[in-house]
Amino acid sequence: MSDVIFSDADFNAYRNLIYNESGIHFTATNRSILESRLKEQLRNNSISSVQAYFDVISRDKEELKAFLDSITTNLTRFFRNQAHFDAMEHFIIPELMKIKKATGNTTIKIWSAGCSTGEEPYTIAMLLSEILPPPWKYEITASDISLKCLMAGKEGFYADSRIVGIPDAYLKKYFDKVEGGYKVHDDLMSKIRFDYHNLKNDSGQRGVDVVFCRNVIIYFDEAAQTAVMSRFWDAMASKSFLFIGHSESLFGMDTKFEFVKTEWATLYKKSI
Ligand SMILES: C[S@@+](CC[C@H](N)C(=O)[O-])C[C@H]1O[C@@H](n2cnc3c(N)ncnc32)[C@H](O)[C@@H]1O
Repeated sequence: MSDVIFSDADFNAYRNLIYNESGIHFTATNRSILESRLKEQLRNNSISSVQAYFDVISRDKEELKAFLDSITTNLTRFFRNQAHFDAMEHFIIPELMKIKKATGNTTIKIWSAGCSTGEEPYTIAMLLSEILPPPWKYEITASDISLKCLMAGKEGFYADSRIVGIPDAYLKKYFDKVEGGYKVHDDLMSKIRFDYHNLKNDSGQRGVDVVFCRNVIIYFDEAAQTAVMSRFWDAMASKSFLFIGHSESLFGMDTKFEFVKTEWATLYKKSI
């Protein structure tokens, strides 16, 4: 920030606020990322000092949401980490069908937590549409702290450069070619509920069979990660499954989840 002063005290005030509001932990090494995002917010709001903007986000909840949105990292893609979808197809879905059959409940509930622009929930929806035999159904809640991402997900439009990774047969079956990209079919869209949710809070969901929370907790410190895991535990059904990103781990963390190694990928299970 050449023309704006961002002192160590400002950095600490901002990172404490971000941490308390979202669990996202800014270290000294990624201070420059925070600085550049902040500079953009100041420009957008015609505010010249970081202290004045701090006052704004401390009293204006909507601007605080916009600020938190601006500091998130939303990198994602369709069929990211294919091994997870293989484990879903060959291990989790057969297991859930066995577990749930006894209860007469034929709906599989999925939560894509930290869904970014929707590539993850749409990937899950395509896969489940392909593999679930009737009378089995599925419903997906896709949540994020970024309103911009949620809007993109709800719109279901992906530029040509973004559809890499979608098998041709799926692209033909679930998307329409439109100018500059592809648009998801309405019936696939109708399976997903995009919802603003901050993982700092209880989502109110219960009985979820599979949680995907991939490449999200990497931005949290251990205390925030443990708190999120405890909220997932409460949201999940007895005998349910959790995916985290392949560079993330619950190792050494105080959680009741069990580590499961399948032929396809590693994941976590709530057994009780
Ligand atoms: C790198 S993206 C991962 C997207 C997708 N899960 C994937 O693996 O491709 C991380 C997402 O987590 C969201 N996120 C970060 N902190 C969050 C929080 N406290 N509550 C909800 N979403 C959060 C970000 O907005 C971002 O869209």
